[in-house]
Amino acid sequence: MEELNQLIKLIDKHKRSNPYLGYLNISIGNNLHEPLIKYVQSFGKKVLFCTGNTAMRNLGFIKKYNALFNKYKFDVHHYDNIFPNPTLKQMQEGIFFAKKIKPDFIFALGGGSVIDTAKAISVGMYGNVWDFVEKKANIHHSIPIVASSTTSGTGSQVTPYAVITNTDTLEKKTLKHPLLIPKLSIADVSITRFAPKYIVATTGFDVLCHAVEVYTREDCSETAEEFAKNALMLVRKHLVRSYNNKGVKHKLGMIYADFYAGIALALVGTHAPHAIAHPISARFPLINHGQALAYIMADTIQTQKEKKNDALNKKFIKISQLLGGNGDIVKTIRNYTKSLELNRKLADFSAHDAELVIKDTLGYRRESIRKSPVNLSEEDIASIVYNSLLTSKNG
Ligand code: NZQ
Ligand code: MN
Repeated sequence: MEELNQLIKLIDKHKRSNPYLGYLNISIGNNLHEPLIKYVQSFGKKVLFCTGNTAMRNLGFIKKYNALFNKYKFDVHHYDNIFPNPTLKQMQEGIFFAKKIKPDFIFALGGGSVIDTAKAISVGMYGNVWDFVEKKANIHHSIPIVASSTTSGTGSQVTPYAVITNTDTLEKKTLKHPLLIPKLSIADVSITRFAPKYIVATTGFDVLCHAVEVYTREDCSETAEEFAKNALMLVRKHLVRSYNNKGVKHKLGMIYADFYAGIALALVGTHAPHAIAHPISARFPLINHGQALAYIMADTIQTQKEKKNDALNKKFIKISQLLGGNGDIVKTIRNYTKSLELNRKLADFSAHDAELVIKDTLGYRRESIRKSPVNLSEEDIASIVYNSLLTSKNG
């Protein structure tokens, strides 16, 4: 409870100067199921219940939530055709399904992939999602979203973003709009605790990257810095322990790390590491988001560090220390990837694969490369991608 009060206090402290924070409505705890279902009655009776199609079913949560929706007399429609690194095509199928139902609200129970699909459905009811991504059309309407995040995490339960893979153009792009901010942002440790070790590692590494990238952006505000620092301290305390230990304490710690980092992400945004990681998952959809980040994070930071920008390098030292390192950020990051066993090569990339990732990063992700606190040339990006994808490292 103390941690929740601290988080809410920090949000309240900065609400006035950051309207986004005023939209947040957070619920974090253990076994929140029934009180939540009671609470969401205020959103209406007809609910589109979105989940992935494996984990929540196997763990019994789909059954549990369906029973609760029925107990409280909701008109519930379940949609589970959602997979990791969700594609525009799958999202369009979800929109087709939702249009027939016309739900009052969407209840998303899952990781970033499920929550992002719910977001796309929410605005896709009123227009073409890819046109929204490409800013060829403006978003004016959405269906309210309640998001219970089952990973810790992408921050999607608190961000105004949905990340979408277009399998025609092979692009992974971000849809952004304040209407995508969930009306209620939930994490229940009685669900997140079941995430398998590899998911704890990759999603926890994603949290780490959000905090590092926000903190190192030149336009990082004091408010965002405060959220990012809190996330980094929690990552230090809980990430590796959560990976090695099934206890609830560290799982809960990572829920908070995810919320702090997600809020920081919503306030500022990412830069080079995410700009390179998205094209990797777009081209190789079986590589999940956190894994893609783990491939490239240390090499990207190494390259940025070598630019000898004093302000940036001071921040890197501070970040390393907040993460429990001795000030050498590259070593600190490599220690994390090693402890989380994310330093293994899972795929054999060819030089041609690397060229494609470089082309995409410099192409459709160039705007976020420009957000890098130090200028990265085409050669820099090429060497980061080659080094991280084509040479094996042992931590
Ligand atoms: O396949 P299902 O049944 O859904 O199971 C999932 C999936 O296989 C499983 N899982 C989730 N919670 C679990 C669990 N298994 C057991 N117990 C639980 N409690 O884990 C697998 C991965 O799930 P997924 O949702 O794909 O992972 P994640 O949460 O990392 O989400 C990744 C997506 O979010 C995007 C990524 O790009 C990627 O597409 N992001 C979204 C952001 C946003 N909207 O603000 C920002 C992030 O930077 C990120 O880009
Ligand atoms: Mn991320």
